[in-house]
This record gives sequence, C-alpha cells and structure tokens, in this order.
Amino acid sequence: TEEHPFNHLIDTLKDGDRKYFNPQKLNDARYNKLPLSIRVLLEAAIRKCDGFYVKEEDVHNILDWSEQQNVAEVPFPPARVLLQDFTGIPAMVDLAAMRDAVTKHGVDPGLVNPVCPTDLIVDHSLQIDLNKCQSQGPPSRPSPARPTPRRGSQCGGERGSCSKGGCSDTPGRPATAVQQIENTPLLYTIHIHEFLTFFLRLSLFPLKWCSKAFKNVNVVAPDVGAVHQLNLEYLSRVVQESQGFIYPDSVVGTDSHTTMINGLGILGWGVGGIESEAVMLGQPISLTLPQVVGCRLVGSVNILATSIDIVLGITKHLRQAGIAGKFVEFFGPGVSQLSVPDRTTIANMCPEYNATVSFFPVDHVTLKHFKQTNFTEEKLELLEAYLKAVKLFRNYEDSGTVMLSLLSLKVIEINLSSMVPHVSGPKRPQDRVAVSSMKEDFQSCLNEKVGFKGFHISKEKQESLVPFLHGGQEYELAHGSVVIAAVISCTNNCNPSVMLTAGLLAKKAVEAGLIVKPYIRTSLAPGSGMVTHYLNTSGVLPYLSQLGFEVIGYGCATCVGNTAPLPETVSEAIKEGDLVACGVLSGNRHFEGRLCDCVRANYLASPPLVVAYAIAGTVSINFEKEPLGVTSEGKEVYLRDVWPTREEVQQIEQDKVISSIFTELRARREKGNTFWDNLECPESVVFPWDPKSTYIRSPSFFNKLVKVQPPQSIENAHALLFLGDKVTTDHISPAGSIARVSAAARYLLSKRLTPREFNSYGARRGNDAVMTRGTFASIKLQNRFIGKPGPKTVHIPSGQTLDVFEAVERYQRDGVPLIILAGKQYGSGNSRDWAAKGPYLLGVRAVIAESFEKMHKNHLVGMGIAPLQFLPGQSADSLELCGKEKFTITLPEDLSPKQILTTSSGKTFSVTTLFDSEMDVAFYRHGGLLRYVARTML
Ligand SMILES: *[C@@H]1O[C@H](CO)[C@@H](O)[C@H](O)[C@H]1NC(C)=O
Ligand SMILES: *[C@@H]1O[C@H](CO)[C@@H](O)[C@H](O)[C@H]1NC(C)=O
Ligand SMILES: *[C@@H]1O[C@H](CO)[C@@H](O)[C@H](O)[C@H]1NC(C)=O
Ligand SMILES: *[C@@H]1O[C@H](CO)[C@@H](O)[C@H](O)[C@H]1NC(C)=O
Repeated sequence: TEEHPFNHLIDTLKDGDRKYFNPQKLNDARYNKLPLSIRVLLEAAIRKCDGFYVKEEDVHNILDWSEQQNVAEVPFPPARVLLQDFTGIPAMVDLAAMRDAVTKHGVDPGLVNPVCPTDLIVDHSLQIDLNKCQSQGPPSRPSPARPTPRRGSQCGGERGSCSKGGCSDTPGRPATAVQQIENTPLLYTIHIHEFLTFFLRLSLFPLKWCSKAFKNVNVVAPDVGAVHQLNLEYLSRVVQESQGFIYPDSVVGTDSHTTMINGLGILGWGVGGIESEAVMLGQPISLTLPQVVGCRLVGSVNILATSIDIVLGITKHLRQAGIAGKFVEFFGPGVSQLSVPDRTTIANMCPEYNATVSFFPVDHVTLKHFKQTNFTEEKLELLEAYLKAVKLFRNYEDSGTVMLSLLSLKVIEINLSSMVPHVSGPKRPQDRVAVSSMKEDFQSCLNEKVGFKGFHISKEKQESLVPFLHGGQEYELAHGSVVIAAVISCTNNCNPSVMLTAGLLAKKAVEAGLIVKPYIRTSLAPGSGMVTHYLNTSGVLPYLSQLGFEVIGYGCATCVGNTAPLPETVSEAIKEGDLVACGVLSGNRHFEGRLCDCVRANYLASPPLVVAYAIAGTVSINFEKEPLGVTSEGKEVYLRDVWPTREEVQQIEQDKVISSIFTELRARREKGNTFWDNLECPESVVFPWDPKSTYIRSPSFFNKLVKVQPPQSIENAHALLFLGDKVTTDHISPAGSIARVSAAARYLLSKRLTPREFNSYGARRGNDAVMTRGTFASIKLQNRFIGKPGPKTVHIPSGQTLDVFEAVERYQRDGVPLIILAGKQYGSGNSRDWAAKGPYLLGVRAVIAESFEKMHKNHLVGMGIAPLQFLPGQSADSLELCGKEKFTITLPEDLSPKQILTTSSGKTFSVTTLFDSEMDVAFYRHGGLLRYVARTML
C-alpha cells in the first residue's frame, strides 16, 4: 500500500482497526452525483489500482461517468467469483495444469492459486435428469448421465418460471443425483446406477482435490444447497473484509441467475467460463462504462396484490422501457415496501428485460434480512457504518440526497398502486382479468358465443340453481360455482410470501368463523418440503387444513390433472343444470378440461385468491361490495377484513422463512455428505492425473512454455476455414454427441472405447484431446471452401478435402500458422470456453472477421488469438480474397489497442486489432492469459 496511487484516500472506521478507501476524500463533487452502482465500480477500481490491470486513468473515467458512460472501457475487479456445476471443472483443471507447468521450471506449484476468492458449488449440475429415466424406463445406453445442468423443473421437466422466480433452489428442491442414487437405487438398473456413481466420482474427484489443494477456493459439497440459495443466504457478505480492509461485496458468476444478488445491494452478473477463470487469476472484467436508468417506485401497493403481481408488473414496465445492456438502479419511497425476496426476484428477471443488473442499494430492509442469517448485531453495525461512510447506504424514504445521485438519469417511474391483482381464464392463461372486474367478466363470458371467452348460456338459463345433497346436507350450485380449488406452489407462486399470504388469510378467515363448503375439492401441493416446513413453523398450516387445504403431495399434482374425482352428486348437478362450474388454481398451466371434464371454467389465481374464491364458493363475486361469507352467527365478513397486510406477511417471512432456510443450509453443510466425504483424494500439491482417464487430462495450454515470450508476427499463414456470417460458438465447439466418424471418435477408439461409451463433447470438456478434435466438428459448419455444411476443409496447397482436424495435423507438421476468415458476428450464441480454447490448440493465431460477438472476442484475447476486424465497409468479398492466399500479418513492437495493421496476401489490406487495452495486448503477446500468468510466475 506504500506505493498505492490512492493511499491518500485510506480512512479508518470509528472502531479504529478497519481501513477502507474513501472515495469522498477525492474531494470531487462528481462523486455525489454518481449512481450507487457506479460508486461500487469506482471503489473497486481505486482499491485495485495497480497501473496494469487497473490504471489511474480508469478511476478518472469512472468518476467522469456523466461524460464517459457508454464510451470508456473500464475494468471491474469483483470481490469474488461464484462457480457452479461443471463450469468449475475446466477452471480447476487449468489451474492444476498450471501447477504442473511451473513445477517443470522449478517454481513452487503451491504458489499457483486463485487470486480472487472463489466459491465453487458442486450441487447444481448433479441434478442429473433421472426423471426421464424413470418415465421412459432404463435407456439402452448411459447417455442420461449427461451432465447438462437441470434447472428448475419441478413440473414435469419443463423449465418453469420457478427458477426465474428464484425459488426452485429451496432446500427441498428435487433430490440431487447423489440423493437419488442413495435413496432409490432399485428404480434403476444396476448398470445405470453404476454408471452414474462412476460418473459422479469422476466429476467430483478433481473438485474434491481442489477443495484441499488451493487457497482461496471454497468448495461447497454436493447436497448442501443449490447455488443461488447459497449465494443469497450463505455466501453474501454485503461488505467484504480482507487484509484489514473493508470494501463492498461484488461477484461474477458463471450463470445468468447471478443477477439475483443485486437485490441485496451486491453488484454482480453472469460471465463466461474463460472470463471467470481470468477473474480468478486476478484479471478484472472489462466493460463499457454502463449507462444507468433510474427506476423510481412510488405509490402504495394494492392490498390484494401479491409479491408476484408486483414483480411481474415491474418486469413488464422494464421490458417496455428498452433498457438493454444498462444498469437499472431502484430508488423512491416504494422500494422500502419490497422485501428482499421481492427485490431478488426482480433482479433475477434481468434477462427478461436485457438489463445488465437491477441494483437495489442496501437499506434497512436489507440489513434486517441479514439479521435472520448469522450476521451479528456488531457486524451489522459495522456494515452500516461503512456503507454510510462511503455513501453506499440508502434511505429510500429520503428524496433529497438520493435525488442528487440520480439527477442526470433517465428515470422510469412506476406507481405501485397500478399493480392490481389479476386472475387469468376462463380458458387460456393469457386472458387476464382484473380481480375487481371478475364478476362482470364472468357474466359476459356466459353471454358470449362459445370461444375462449364465451360459453353462450341462454339468458333464461343463466340464473339456474341446482340443489344437491352432499354429506346429508343440501347445497346449491350455480354458474360460477367453485368446485375445485387447488393451492399449488409451483412456478411463479413459490415466492414464500405468496404462500404465507394464503396461509395467513386462511388463519384469519377461520378465526372470523368462515368455512369452505365441504363439496369443494380443495388441495395444497407445496413445491417442496421447505414450503410445508415454513407454513408449519409460521403456524398457518392447521388453518389451511381446517379449510380443506391439506398437503396432498409435492410439485404438480393438480395442474397435471391428478385431482380426485368430484363427488358424484356434484358432477350430476353440474350436468343437470348444464352449469359452467369453476376451478381455481395457483399453478401456471392448465387448461380447458384439464382439471376435470365437467369443469368448464378454470382460473389461475394467486394462492391467497384461490383460498378466497374457495371460501366465497363462486368466482362471480365483487369482493369490494359483496361479503366473502357469512358466519354461523349471521355476520358478514368481507375479504378486506381477513386479508393480511404486506407488513404482517413480510414480518413472518423475515422471522420464520429466511432464518429457517439459513439454519437448514447450515445444518446440511455441517452434516456433510457421505458420498463426498468418503471420496478418496490424495492431498498432493499437483493434481494426480490418471493417465488412463478419457474424461480428464492435463490440457496442453502450457506446452513448450518458456520464460521468454514468443515472436508474435504471423507469417505465411493459411486460412484454416473461410466462414460466412453468424458463426456461432456451437459451430465452433459443438456440445452434442460425438459422431462415429470423426477425429474425436478415432481418438476415443484408439483408447479402446466403444461408440456406446463415447458420451458427448459436453461431458468430455475435461479432455483437451477430444475437445481439440471436436473443434469445428459441427455438421452445420458452413465453410466456403467446401460449399456444403460439414466439418471439412480444404488443405492448402494440396487441395485435398479433409476433416478439419486432419488438415490441422498436416499444417502443424509443416509448421504453418493458421488464421480464420469470417463474416459478421463471429462467435455469437452462448458463451463457451472451448470455442476459444479449441482454436488455440489447433494453432489458430488470428481470426479476421467483419465483426465479433463481444464476449467471444474477449475469450479469443484470453486465449492469445488476435481478433482482427476488416476496416468498415470491407470484407473478404470486397477485397476479393479467395481464402487460399498466404497471409502475413506484421505486428509492430509497440502494438497498441485498436491499431490498424497491414496484412499482405498477395494483395495488401488493413485490419483493426480489437484489443481493448494494454492488458489485452500483453495477453496476446504471451499466448493468452494462462500463459501470461504462468510466465509471470517464472
Ligand atoms: C399512484 O396512483 C394512485 C392511484 O392511481 C394515485 O392515487 C396516487 O396519487 C399515485 N401516486 C403517485 C405518487 O403518483
Ligand atoms: C433482449 O435481447 C434479445 C436478444 O438480443 C432480443 O431478442 C429481445 O428482443 C430483447 N428484449 C428486450 C425487451 O429488449
Ligand atoms: C455466517 O456463516 C457462514 C457459513 O458458516 C460463514 O462463512 C460466515 O463467516 C458467517 N458470517 C458471519 C457474519 O458470521
Ligand atoms: C408441524 O410441526 C409440528 C410441531 O413441530 C410437528 O409435530 C408436525 O409434524 C409438523 N407438521 C408437518 C406437516 O410438517
């Protein structure tokens, strides 16, 4: 810190022993005008300023945000990295290989460790899709063990919005593969059981090793909890502490749900595999200084609106606002009405409106949330004092000082009272009806001709009342009578507060003397055991069952049509009167005739409204004007009398739910996992590679690593491929099955595997030999040398048509460097690390394209491949390149970002280097980030 360019900003907190960088000591009026999310970027840049990764100029650019937004490229060194599932393996394997490489040069391998604290959560990926095996019987080959992460699929394997709502990760989520194997081996053939066990052991072994071998890596064993639950409840610090300094928590993760964390005032988002690896090794994320949109919440929430109504309502506004690629920062008095789960759900919806993050600066609600985990009073005080000292704390009620930081922002104003509750139906989920106009809407459905919104009941029949007997008592059914009411906490409705609202409503209704008529088929299907647990802890479960909402099972029972049949007298009455009877349920799927043939109108509603309509016994009701029910003493009770307030619900959510989730996670962590604990793994400093393994191999990124950096000019290179527009990462590095006739197949056959055992490229990402052979092995690859799709190319000068890998072998033998010619948007699609690693191992030195997908371009730089762009308006065609020329690209000693280079290929043309910074240039010169870091150690 002696030489730290900003050490004059160091301050100490009142307690005296905690230091921090105080940007206010810059004495720059612009600081007070920065949005809080940008202040987080600024603090990180100040603290990590080292003149290479982060420069003083970067700090000034961030401070000058009002001028530099959308212009300057700035570094962001996050406080931690979150890896989950198999994205962790390649990163760990690369670090293990780096240990080998430096050992060969006499350097202590124990020095190779992540620089940035890394949490690696094993659980996520291990939810191998065994449901499919169950329903289809044992498959003929072991492919079901493919390691594709399975996300949020409590309902029949569909990717429900459950995971979007951020609650598929409650500890009661579907059992992990480990659990499933341990608990239900009889469901599977021995073969599959063995295969899965083998596969798990194989994948877990390196992770187990790195949990011991590396400093700065925290591996969370399988079966403790899924990644986002852990991230929210367990790993989040809000304020980090290291080497006597405190600073704001921030994170990058390898998953798009990482944005949830912004609901806790922790800046973070998802990045690709290579980027996260780079961050682990100390490199900051590079981003264009973001524009920030302010989202001002005003007004008060409609009493009947649930969290989900609010979350979806806000999401809809944001989607319409066109804020792609921006930061959204929330402010205004309405924010304090949102609980932490509400905020994290909104933040998790970012991909829906394409914002980078939705940031909710820390306030008292956030602090109260952490009180329910294990933050002590003292820690919370420290946290608040620090955040206040650097002006990162917000009081949402206070409009004065807050506004200063938001003066220059584009602001979207949302009035929370416009979020009125809706139900949808009677036949399609997209037909939304405001609860306040339900009665009129149902009436018009009776009148309308048969269609999505019509039943065409003649006027004289609309008033029919059909008496029937049930349990020895007489009741009457009419059009609109509710006969099925199912509370399902699946998909959207698994936000705890929504289920709690239903429970509290039941409690208050019972206490007010209301009942649900006994002929109504009522049921309760919580999404997981956790839901039952917190309903029980909160004391509302008995009231739900008193109204007939008994737990019938987990997940999707009613929404897939598994309701018990209606009482016979009821179905007869419906038939007799040709009645439009109703079902109300809180799933997100149904529809016509799905619940039961004789129920023609089905409405989707929030769980508390399901309870309300069940008590009312009809959907044809105006809750404002008509009582929900009448007690046995003849007293009228209105819905507003028994509907719990948001404060009541939030209080219980705070006190019971958050803490019980935390306690459960901690208990699981302490209990451990036998499979994991018993997995044997040597405590060696270098990884014990198994030479026989065809899944995990030491990657050859460090081959021929020498201390001095290699020459960089590219002389007499050939174009390996001549590609068109929109080549995706899946074309470059397919993840699917390994074709029987392919270079990868030949390699695996040479290892004595049978085609049955090939598995997919995705499953073999830990084997660079397979992945290199699989690079450009997509059957959809359009190579202009060939003219039809396929993984082939023409070898120059022989003119022979070969598999891409065969051609590469020839070029390598002859020492010919390679380049790739491409059109627009090279590397679009999902970020995939092997789409850059593969070409590097093939010997590709540069890609010349009309444009690049940004994340892929960063990956190329990280792997030491030069991304070069044709000058504006130029392309291979306009330059009349046939691709079979020899390319020489001369790189000057003083190579700088965005420099124009001359390329000769018989003809001479210029290209722009897409290096963003000197750091990028350094990576290129060293053959990529990994070699740069290894060489630095040498
Ligand atoms: C929000 O909307 C309600 C109802 O339309 C209105 O009464 C209230 O004044 C609005 N609040 C603000 C701050 O605009
Ligand atoms: C978000 O981005 C995707 C892909 O770039 C685009 O298809 C979609 O229309 C965008 N949505 C919004 C709301 O901007
Ligand atoms: C809370 O518990 C986690 C896990 O046991 C631990 O890592 C963390 O340090 C604890 N936090 C506090 C503030 O005690
Ligand atoms: C609810 O909690 C009580 C007391 O802890 C327990 O006896 C009961 O089994 C629980 N019920 C359910 C359904 O979990």
